[in-house]
Amino acid sequence: MATLLPSNTKASSRRHSTETVNFRGNRLWIIGPGAIGRLLAARLASARADELASQGKSSLPDILLIGRRALSTQEVSIEMIAPSGDIVIQKIMYEKIDSMKNPPREIPLAIWITTKAHGVEDVWATLQQHISPSTPITCWQNGLSAQPWFAEHHSGLLCASTTEGAWLPESHSTQVFPIQHAAHGQTWLGPWAATGMTSAASTANAHQQVDWLTRAGFSSKAADNMQERLWHKLAVNATINPLVARFRIRNGQLRDRPFSLMVRQAVSEISAVLNAKQVSAPPQGWQALIDDVIRTTANNRASMLQDVLADRPTEIVAILGPLRSTAAQHGLQIPLLDQLYRDLS
Ligand SMILES: NC(=O)c1ccc[n+]([C@@H]2O[C@H](COP(=O)([O-])OP(=O)(O)OC[C@H]3O[C@@H](n4cnc5c(N)ncnc54)[C@H](OP(=O)(O)O)[C@@H]3O)[C@@H](O)[C@H]2O)c1
Repeated sequence: MATLLPSNTKASSRRHSTETVNFRGNRLWIIGPGAIGRLLAARLASARADELASQGKSSLPDILLIGRRALSTQEVSIEMIAPSGDIVIQKIMYEKIDSMKNPPREIPLAIWITTKAHGVEDVWATLQQHISPSTPITCWQNGLSAQPWFAEHHSGLLCASTTEGAWLPESHSTQVFPIQHAAHGQTWLGPWAATGMTSAASTANAHQQVDWLTRAGFSSKAADNMQERLWHKLAVNATINPLVARFRIRNGQLRDRPFSLMVRQAVSEISAVLNAKQVSAPPQGWQALIDDVIRTTANNRASMLQDVLADRPTEIVAILGPLRSTAAQHGLQIPLLDQLYRDLS
């Protein structure tokens, strides 16, 4: 299944990543086979299979899923339970990321990084030799730590922000990757930098990827102000996730005292920071936006809470870190957020 390059292009693919590479394979590499990675892989592969069956061809990319785990086969079976309860089973090629330390056999059509924010630097360290300046790379992380870091290393970076909800059910086989698609949402995808020499190519890449997502059944739009979208998502996550993780409660309990008062204080601290950063407020205002998210996700256990309960690293640095550094730059006090950061670090 590995796509090998024609012999005349193979040598150039082995050169250092800063040289221009003119040939691309036909596979989208999804790095990080967790909740979001499996969801994207399953839906795209399923849409591709449908197009092949109905039209005999498809311009959707083939998928290569790349993870840390060693498997005995090169293929995994993703079993996705859709929000409707329907089950989609899709076979996907899988590779262990360590094997990517070998010289490239294939140049990816594009790369989607779907690890948690703190996993992104390791991915870059391992995959550098597979990445040319023109490789479209999309960061799917919440928070705002991975994206500015990656943009320093790769100029045409794309970012995605999604409110799709997915979580990992227990797996009974190493070759089977189950995924529960809990709720449909909205995805925004666009260039990290809206200006500069790379922006025309990045914008075209973003439009192509939005087309893939749309054909795979995701409600998705190209964003020309991606950093603002990411700040808005961060504001929601920064209000809800640290509080529910610290007090080990479901989102809906934030409507009750004493948590409702903490939500108000968090919103006040966050909106002051975003105002200083000149991030525009949502049309309904920050408090109404957050109240709405708490209402619609009332029964959810946020991923940061799940990470705390499972004793895994959380994304607290990616989510509260950018607010703390911006507050410090503008001389703003954010005592509640600082306390939550200390409690959860
Ligand atoms: N889940 C959602 O509903 C949702 C919604 C919106 C946004 N997001 C955001 O999307 C990002 C991913 O979240 P998630 O819920 O999908 O996390 P997740 O379930 O923890 O998945 C992360 C995956 O990345 C893998 N990984 C970590 N380091 C790696 C490396 N160096 N090479 C290859 N794979 C690596 C992990 O492997 P191991 O299994 O070996 O740890 C895991 O499979 C986060 O920033 C999150 O905030 C998630």
